Order: sequence, then C-alpha cells, then structure tokens
Amino acid sequence: MNTYNNNTKQAEEALKQAEAKMNKRYRLGYHIMAPANWINDPNGLIQFKGEYHAFYQHHPYDENWGPMHWGHVKSKDLVHWEHCPIALAPGDACDLDGCFSGSAVDNNGELTLIYTGHHYIDQPNNIFFQNQNVAVSTDGIHFTKLRQNPVIAEPPTDSSQHFRDPKVWKHEDTWYMILGNSTKEDLPRVILYTSPDLRTWTYHGVLLQGDKNMGFMWECPDFFELNGKHIFMFSPQGIDAQGDKYNNLFQTGYYVGEYNYNSNEYQHGEFIELDTGHDFYAVQTFLDDQGRRIALGWMDMWESDMPTKADGWCGAMTIPRLITLGDNNKVLMTPVEEMKLLRQSKHVLYQYGAISGSYFKEVEADLLEVKIVFDLTKSSADLVGLRFRGTGREETVITYSIPEQKLMLNCSKSGKKTDGVRQTALNAEGRLTLHVYLDRSSIEMFANEGQATMTSRIYPSEKLLGIEIITEGGEALVNGLTYWKLKDIWQAE
Ligand code: FRU
Repeated sequence: MNTYNNNTKQAEEALKQAEAKMNKRYRLGYHIMAPANWINDPNGLIQFKGEYHAFYQHHPYDENWGPMHWGHVKSKDLVHWEHCPIALAPGDACDLDGCFSGSAVDNNGELTLIYTGHHYIDQPNNIFFQNQNVAVSTDGIHFTKLRQNPVIAEPPTDSSQHFRDPKVWKHEDTWYMILGNSTKEDLPRVILYTSPDLRTWTYHGVLLQGDKNMGFMWECPDFFELNGKHIFMFSPQGIDAQGDKYNNLFQTGYYVGEYNYNSNEYQHGEFIELDTGHDFYAVQTFLDDQGRRIALGWMDMWESDMPTKADGWCGAMTIPRLITLGDNNKVLMTPVEEMKLLRQSKHVLYQYGAISGSYFKEVEADLLEVKIVFDLTKSSADLVGLRFRGTGREETVITYSIPEQKLMLNCSKSGKKTDGVRQTALNAEGRLTLHVYLDRSSIEMFANEGQATMTSRIYPSEKLLGIEIITEGGEALVNGLTYWKLKDIWQAE
C-alpha cells in the first residue's frame, strides 16, 4: 500500500458529477458551501500569505456524513470565496476512516494543518480510536501528510475513545494544542499538549474538566486571548435543555476567564451559549493580520432535518463574524465589516414614524441584509418584530417582547423544515436594533450589536418574498428600516 497517497483526485471527480445533478433551489448566495454533497464543521481557519483560507469537514461522495475529507475555500476579502481542490482525503494508515476536525497554523511560511485521524474498530457499534496528524503545504493549496504521522498516536490512559479536534496556537516559542476529550467515566474535558516544532508533542494534563451537567464530550475546543481575558469556546454534547437554554441537540458556547500558562490553571465564569438559533455548531475562530478575532460556525445541527439532501447537497458555514468582548464579560458576535462589500443596492423601506399592526413591503430579492431600529422608549406596543418569507401558512418571524425582554426566532412555519421557536433574554435598554442577513435557506440575526445572535436554516417557497414590520398591543416607533440587496458570490461559477 502506498501509505501517504492523500488521494483527492477521485473525490474531485465525484464532486463534479454531483454538482451537475444538483437542484439549486436552496443554494446559498453568500455563504461558504461545498460545490456539492455534505459538509459540517469549519476547520483550519487562517489568513496565510495574505489570503483567508477556510477548510471544512466534507464528504464529497454523498449528501450524508461519511468518511471525512477536508474541503477548502479561499478568499482575499473574507466574503468572495473560491473553491480550491480538496485538501485532505482519508484512507491512509494514519487516518483510515476519516480526516476529522482540526486547525491550521502558519509555521514560517509552511501552512500546517493539524487534524484528527478517525479509525473504526467496530463501526456498527461506533467503537473507534482517534489520533492526531499533521499535513503541510507551501503553496497553501496542495498538502502532504507527514511521514511520521500520527504525531500523537493515542489519548492519555485515563481517557475515553473521544480524542479529537486539535486547536493549535503559538505562545512565546512553544506550540500549544488542546483536544476535546472525556474521562473513562464520560466526564467532558479538554487536554493540553505542547511542542517545539509541531511534530513532537508532550502531554501536559487536563486544562479543564466539566461535571455531568456540562455533558459527556466537548467537541471543537478553541482557546484564545481577548482584551486580556482567556476565552474557552467549545461545543458540548449532552447538556440538557433548561427553559430557553440549550434547546438544540448540541450546544456551542464559551467561558471567559484567566489562564495561567505556568500552572495550567484556568479560572472562569459561567457557560454562555454563543448563538441561540437552531443551527449553529462547531464554531472555530482565528486571528487575522489586522488582529481581529473572527469566527465561522457550521450553520446546521446534527440530526436535524436537512431538506437539501434531496437536492444533492447539505451544509454551510455562517457568515464571518467579528468576536469582541462586551460589558460583563459577554462575547459579542457581529458581521465583519467586509460584509458591506456584498451590498448591491440600498433601499429605505421605512424612514421614521409610529407603526401599529403591520407594515408590509414586497421586496423582489431573496439575498438581503436588513436593519431596523425600534425606539422602545416611545412605543406603547408589547411586541415588535419582523416577518420574512411569507405571512401565515409560511413565514419566519423575529419578535421582541418588551415586557418580558425576550427575543424570539420562530421557525415553526419556515417552509420545508419546521423547527419551532428559540428564545433568549435580551435587555434592549430602550432601543432594539435588529440586523438580519437572509439567504435562500438561512437567517442570521444580530440584535443590539451582537448582544444576542440567532442563526437558523429555513427552507421557504421561492416566491414568498417581502419584509413586514410587526407590532402588537400598541404602537412602535420605528427609527428606520433599511435593506440592501446582496450579491450572489457563487453565480459566476
Ligand atoms: C463536530 C464533530 C467533530 C468531529 C467532526 C466529524 O461536529 O463531531 O467532533 O471532528 O464533527 O465530522
């Protein structure tokens, strides 16, 4: 057997065929997707030699999850993306059954991917082992797996089989790696390794361990400094729903705290969900050349309905989001500035004035950015909001309850997939700004500059277009509603 073939050519061929057969009705216009077939987590986010690269978990042979490859896109400006050849294909001795999630670093001009090799022992019963591997590239496009792979062959002895999703960064002269892991007793934890050269790794023990309330496994850990604090972001599996919180199958959230590199001690606050929509998972962040911390999430959720499978594709990334730290140690996400490059035409739908009941305007476009400001200090309404993609039988509705201080995204009538309601607490302090990105099959909402974000996939009928301002129980003062038609970055392809 040729041990390190990284056979991506065959996968490229399969993708071309799948692409030709695809039904494009729900294809997104300005989000990262594969040319066809399945994708999940964002991987290896990095700015390398000036260009932004994003990789993703990908099954190029099928619209369902399967042996994981790394798909690849790059961009000069974070919003116009182009597909690159598949970067990693599984099937080598180090990654026989999958190249699972991981990260990327720039090692003196060598783009280095660090990823998990997945190996089934008994596939029907989901018994497996996982190891950590490295692949390198100088052109940022073609990758060679290291001959010495795996660079970490097995987890610590007190570990369960879960041992994956390396996130690597440099601190002073040392490379640090954290991994999602759990104990033999299924307690979730993240463990730490260090290396002088990305090849030889030394185990340093547990960075953080959770109790049963924090689930059984922490996927896709990320750890970074922001405003002097250390943020630990992760995707825990197995947290029970509590009222409005944790209503998806799995969650994505963070701790804010202080980390001591010498003692490997991390003191942190409470777990906070990062996005409270239906479809946000496996977020990864990176630091760009301007010093911005930028995040992409997988804009889907395990085991939810994914109607585009019938169309020959499945899965997408969120728009790129700037991560900042707000008051009270809250992590805020807002669209990166570059999203403005997608604006095609600006339309003031409503200038200024009180609305009672509803105000509807036909908008002949399905790729939209919408911004509305409600002045709640001058509103007698109990409820204000926006309705998109229909009224009645089909609709997607955002509402804010002023007395309850609750923001709601209602997708119970969002077309093909109906996924109920998600709610989150928000103290709007007299002024509610909703900044919404609508694509053919997604909605991303940023409220009050990232104080709350909600992201969901929707699958409305093509002809249901338009924007409606809604109020209940009185009048609401609208201090402007502007929308922009956005560019379809994939149309030229
Ligand atoms: C998270 C995850 C990762 C894993 C990958 C497999 O969604 O389960 O833990 O590496 O997906 O595709």
